[in-house]
Amino acid sequence: MARITSIFSLRNLFVLSLALNVSLILRVVYVSEKHGPFGFPTENKRAPLMADTSETEPEADQRTRLFLPTSSSSVTAPSEVEDDGKRIINLDHGDPTMYEKYWQKMGEKTTIVIPGWQSMSYFSDVKNLCWFLEPEFAKQVVRLHKVVGNAQTEGRHIVVGTGSSQLFLAALFALSPTNGSEPMSVVSASPYYSSYPSMTDYQKSGLYKWAGDAQSFNKPGPYIELVTSPNNPDGFARHSMVNRTGGILVHDLAYYWPQYTPISYQADHDLTLFTVSKTTGHAGIRIGWALVKDVEIAKRMTKFIELNTIGVSKDSQLRAAKVLKVVADSCEQSGSSEYTESFFEFNYHLMAQRWQQLREAVNASGVFSLPGFPPAYCNFHGHILEPQPAFAWLRCENNTEDCESYLRGHKILARGGRHFGVEPNYVRVSMLDRDDNFGAFLKRLSMFQS
Ligand SMILES: Cc1ncc(COP(=O)(O)O)c(C=O)c1O
Repeated sequence: MARITSIFSLRNLFVLSLALNVSLILRVVYVSEKHGPFGFPTENKRAPLMADTSETEPEADQRTRLFLPTSSSSVTAPSEVEDDGKRIINLDHGDPTMYEKYWQKMGEKTTIVIPGWQSMSYFSDVKNLCWFLEPEFAKQVVRLHKVVGNAQTEGRHIVVGTGSSQLFLAALFALSPTNGSEPMSVVSASPYYSSYPSMTDYQKSGLYKWAGDAQSFNKPGPYIELVTSPNNPDGFARHSMVNRTGGILVHDLAYYWPQYTPISYQADHDLTLFTVSKTTGHAGIRIGWALVKDVEIAKRMTKFIELNTIGVSKDSQLRAAKVLKVVADSCEQSGSSEYTESFFEFNYHLMAQRWQQLREAVNASGVFSLPGFPPAYCNFHGHILEPQPAFAWLRCENNTEDCESYLRGHKILARGGRHFGVEPNYVRVSMLDRDDNFGAFLKRLSMFQS
């Protein structure tokens, strides 16, 4: 009898596992065919335009002589890349695989070993308001901000999240009144990060609601404004755009690091979001952090994460702590035999080379244009530098109305302006992909002629 039961349950298990696997495969095929990875649409459908655009003209290209840190980094020249014109070049996502090169060079420096008996409890630090925050991760966050000088951590509570995406939702939850007569408006100036509208509205919360472009927002009453600086997608430094007081600001400083932009001030905001995804390139670890001034807001954000995922992976926090430690070490010991240059110097140089190559390819094509950025003094590098954003914000100049489709016709996948609340003659291209893919993109651009 016992044997029959065990055979029966084994058979059941086998059938169940087969069914689960088949449905998983079908789901992956369905999702990737229809939406692509991460649910981004691969079909040629347009997202509805969120708001009228009142985008200013990009400034004229400024070709100032700038400091470039010496570096052992180098970019593959387009001539070295094989491209038969048939390969699909996907630069739609901001997947920061460019950084693999640096971390490969670092070898075992960031390797950690977690014994099976470690990191088992739900709790990390019961005395901390954010009880699932690993003390070592918090320590390295504070240390890195001090070394870089990009954000004030004193008088702030650190809330850790599963990526800054979870903290974004936690912030909306914490900042919206629970007894409001209607949902709190959430706005951001276009072009805004394409995920903001869908992340805000996908759960149809009664607490908050996406209300579009901050520049045309004029509804009376409270609102939350998302300020992304440097901005995704266009790379410009930003400040609040709603022309009145009374709003609550959430500063998304995912890209406020010295490889992307001059560190010209120490951020001192009420609520600031950061993420290892764009700081070090470790998007897969899924760790972000918020610096929060108000204790009650920090408590509510912590509550949201408690209700949502009962905390944040300890393994991920420990790994992120190790990575941030190595980055801070590389800054403090830059020029030593251990670290010939800092993480930020190495990757600043890589980005500078990529931007130079891209500008040359774009100018030669006569089909596209790129914004120019005003140089500024960087407190970290100690020189005047030009911003070199994580995304290129291309504009089609050949009377092409739909730049995304135009590029798609050349087998280049990038995200069109409508996703960011502006006209479709703009397109966002990731600058953070692997050398091979980025090189293929430059090579493909060289085939464009006006
Ligand atoms: C401006 C901005 N904020 C937040 C995120 C999400 O970061 P995370 O990977 O930490 O969820 C991104 C990712 O592209 C981003 O561009």
